[in-house]
Amino acid sequence: MTTTSSIGRDTQRIDGPRKVTGLAQYTSDFNFPGMLYAVPVEATIANGKLLTLDTAAAEKMPGVRAIFHRANIGRIFRSTPAPGFDRVCLERRPPFEDDVIRYYGQYIALAVADTFETAKAAADAVRATYSKEKPNVESRLEPGDDPDVVFTGYGPVPRLQSQRGDAEAAFASAPVKLDETYGTPAETHNPLELHSTTAIWNGEILTLYDSTQGVVNMRSVIAQMFGLPKENVRVISKFLGSGFGGKLYPWTHVPLAAAAARELGKPVKLVVSRKMMFQAVGHRARTQQRVRLGVTPDGKLVSFQHDYVYHLSMIDHYHEDCGEATPFHYSVPNLRVHWGRARRNIGATADMRGPGAVPGLYATESAMNEMAERLKIDPVQFRILNEPRIDESTNLPFSSRHYVECLNLGAEKFGWSKRTPVPGSMKRDGLTLGWGMAGAAWIAGRFAADANIQLHDDGTVRIACATQDIGTGTYTILAQLASEKIGVPLDKVEVELGDSALPDGPISGGSLATSSVIPAVFKAADQAITSLLIVAISTPGSPFLGHKPEDLALQDGRVFVKAEGVAKGVPFGDVLRQANARLVTGSGSSEQTAFAPNPHFSMHSYGCHFAEVTWQPEIARLRVSRVVSVMDAGRILNPLTGRNQIQGAVVMGIGMALFEETTYDPQNGAPINSNLADYIMTVNLDAPPIEVHFLDYPDKEINELGARGIGEIGLAGIAAAITDAVHHATGVRVRELPVKIEDLLT
Ligand code: MOS
Repeated sequence: MTTTSSIGRDTQRIDGPRKVTGLAQYTSDFNFPGMLYAVPVEATIANGKLLTLDTAAAEKMPGVRAIFHRANIGRIFRSTPAPGFDRVCLERRPPFEDDVIRYYGQYIALAVADTFETAKAAADAVRATYSKEKPNVESRLEPGDDPDVVFTGYGPVPRLQSQRGDAEAAFASAPVKLDETYGTPAETHNPLELHSTTAIWNGEILTLYDSTQGVVNMRSVIAQMFGLPKENVRVISKFLGSGFGGKLYPWTHVPLAAAAARELGKPVKLVVSRKMMFQAVGHRARTQQRVRLGVTPDGKLVSFQHDYVYHLSMIDHYHEDCGEATPFHYSVPNLRVHWGRARRNIGATADMRGPGAVPGLYATESAMNEMAERLKIDPVQFRILNEPRIDESTNLPFSSRHYVECLNLGAEKFGWSKRTPVPGSMKRDGLTLGWGMAGAAWIAGRFAADANIQLHDDGTVRIACATQDIGTGTYTILAQLASEKIGVPLDKVEVELGDSALPDGPISGGSLATSSVIPAVFKAADQAITSLLIVAISTPGSPFLGHKPEDLALQDGRVFVKAEGVAKGVPFGDVLRQANARLVTGSGSSEQTAFAPNPHFSMHSYGCHFAEVTWQPEIARLRVSRVVSVMDAGRILNPLTGRNQIQGAVVMGIGMALFEETTYDPQNGAPINSNLADYIMTVNLDAPPIEVHFLDYPDKEINELGARGIGEIGLAGIAAAITDAVHHATGVRVRELPVKIEDLLT
């Protein structure tokens, strides 16, 4: 413990100085003697067969070491699903496994050369011929003929996701109805840092420097792909230029680099291009969601139906769980959530910040707003009227839900009471204003985690866990946790993460990393402290000699006799030096709770957004001008980095509402806007002031500190709030994201 705890206080990132001075080494910054560069050759069709590959010209280029393809890359085995949360891989087919081309940009060969430029030139010089079929990249989605229970990446999932009462009958007899379909486009993760991997073999030992959000999972997948025990594989990921979910699991370029390094006996670096980022490393699925609501005239929901379809690749099984939040979010006696999927000639779909719930809540929260308008009830009030007392899908109490407080606080901070509901009725400085709002929810739980703590004789602490920092602040959180338990300032804590050789840590995903590591770190600290106290009572000459361990405690970094108080304590470094011990150590583990329904509580985070847009019909200019977000995400360990998370998500949400869309060329199936000029994202000038408030209620069901997670919830609901504001300003309801200017030219 410490009397100067940083928990709950704005704490700057401890890795900040390393980042701004350029000392932080990102994955592609690592270089090794004799290292070669690999560039994949991309299929230029999306449906068909590879007939011939002509590599002769490429092979003859000076500096080219090899052109690999199906016949000469050596074996790459398939990775298979494992029980629990291990060996997750979204595109299971190993690269080059067959000659079938299922999406544009699928890798068909790999050029390896002494320099990146030569490898790129060689890749460009490889000629391929194909037998071509017309690709199916149709954006209108009809559910395919899947069975009632589909084996997805999350295991078997029933297509009838949730059901209570008789939603159809209740809808049929409801006095007020809404039946609308909402669409969200394919979106592409565009972290600043490209995916990158560098593979180095040392005999049967493979080391990968990889830009991954999950070193432990990648170790399992790659070990299986190369037929190795997982002890033979080490994955290192020290700094990431973010990932947004696209870097959670290994993609096919990773085994390609490893196989090339194996064949050539040299380190091989492969950095995917920005164009490839749109093709072969995952994207958020396009979704089409029909929402049917039935209500009483005074605003009580009687029926809620959510039927969604998403697209996916020809052979993968990623489940875009748009119905994740629907069953518990509002009180309604009759509910039905059902889904289907449509296969397309596209790369694998993947988790992208708030997967499932983010597109799902865009649809359901938009429907709630439209229904509130039909009822002439304020949308905040409509939600409060339908606040559930328990989770009606499981009949379990909520562990900690303060959604109504979020709504009320958001309305107050935004000034919502001044809203006049008629579209176009609010003006400021010659601009038409639009105000909209929506609610948010996201999962809460924990992955399994191990951690190790060392207390050193120089008074420093080392905390180690094989999780990652994707830019969100995990280095800092781990330091805060160690500092909290041992009672030393943050600058006395060294954090080791991003290396699968460390104790197994969680993926940086699901907004679960912080909640997962807390119990493991605390147990590790308790064990290290016990070890220290044993040293204190057993070292000859120690002032604590003869005490029992339970008489002693550690606070502010000092060992002391409880009866005498911490002021008379001895710094732990002195205790260790007196014993001639370099260090004591402790290990701790915590178990996974995510994806296993908690038998006692329904656990989620909640929140809401209030958004203002300005509209100038004369020049068709729409701007998001102000956002207020309120989040109920349990205890916030670091409000500074926490606010950053929500602000970043809101910025991304403006992109979701107004800009982001991956468009496929119907002729060749290529993601056609596969660059940062044509794939439009929110930039600084699009980002308005974003005010973030946390309710900060600890959720003691999740961990000792009551911290749930904040990485994704900020993106939930924001698109619905913005499109509602767009309607309020312009009178136009857009139900197909992103909102385009031409939608508003009425
Ligand atoms: Mo998040 S989509 O779990 O990185």
